[in-house]
Amino acid sequence: MNTILITGSSSGFGLETARYFLDRNWNVIATMRTPRADLLPKSERLHIIALDVTDAQSIARAVRDAGPIDALVNNAGAGLMGALEGVSLDDTRQIFELNTFGTMAMTQAVLPGFRRRNSGVVVNVSSAVTLKPFPMLSAYTASKAAIEAFSENLALEVEPFGVRVRIVIPGRAPQTSFSATARARSQNGIPEAYADFAKQVFSKASQEPGEVTSASDVAEAVWRAVTDGSSPVRIAAGSDAVSLFAKEALNTG
Ligand SMILES: NC(=O)c1ccc[n+]([C@@H]2O[C@H](COP(=O)([O-])OP(=O)(O)OC[C@H]3O[C@@H](n4cnc5c(N)ncnc54)[C@H](OP(=O)(O)O)[C@@H]3O)[C@@H](O)[C@H]2O)c1
Repeated sequence: MNTILITGSSSGFGLETARYFLDRNWNVIATMRTPRADLLPKSERLHIIALDVTDAQSIARAVRDAGPIDALVNNAGAGLMGALEGVSLDDTRQIFELNTFGTMAMTQAVLPGFRRRNSGVVVNVSSAVTLKPFPMLSAYTASKAAIEAFSENLALEVEPFGVRVRIVIPGRAPQTSFSATARARSQNGIPEAYADFAKQVFSKASQEPGEVTSASDVAEAVWRAVTDGSSPVRIAAGSDAVSLFAKEALNTG
């Protein structure tokens, strides 16, 4: 039976992806900063393990306790909003520590096992903000663009060892905890000089009708990334991300 380890399984995309793989008879190692047994259906195939991806000891312990796995999903992450002038470098470093270095550290921790077994899939969750620039999100976007850049290189580097790397790129998902967490992290991010402009930007974005991404869109994209060996390295999740992919293809094609 196959085993998947998912980071950030306490809410949103990570929680739904854990549910999705459990429903399809996988062993699921749902990792959470604060483990909770009540979030997912009870199952002998479910193992809940404590993991903070910014803590090297926590990573080493979780990967050891998990044992051999077939797939890793680096989903844990958070947003950071604000004008570059208003966002401190400390906050920027923290967001890279979580989104980018957390993803790299987890990948480093599982790669030796994947390489020895000549098999394994790493799925790194990015964001469609890398496809369409959006003001007040430069630090967050940079942390995700860095994930995409290293993942595309890594995919070539580990292919000879039977290891696959995929990037899942979700669109905007207002129903997860993401926006509230980003707002809480982003106090003082908008200096007075940017206040009117920022208000316009956010009010326009909130009124924009149309396409959003659901947690199940992301779970399906992760499923495709993990189970379909012929899937592309970059996989859009959600109809808004799919539309942005199509526009990008037109621009570059
Ligand atoms: N929602 C969107 O619009 C959107 C769009 C594109 C991409 N994304 C990306 O998708 C991923 C999941 O986001 P989401 O929308 O599902 O948001 P979410 O509901 O806020 O989930 C984020 C998860 O990351 C976990 N986490 C935070 N810091 C962590 C740490 N240091 N170590 C381990 N886990 C940690 C959170 O755990 P706690 O409960 O302990 O905080 C939570 O389980 C993120 O990488 C995000 O950047 C989101």
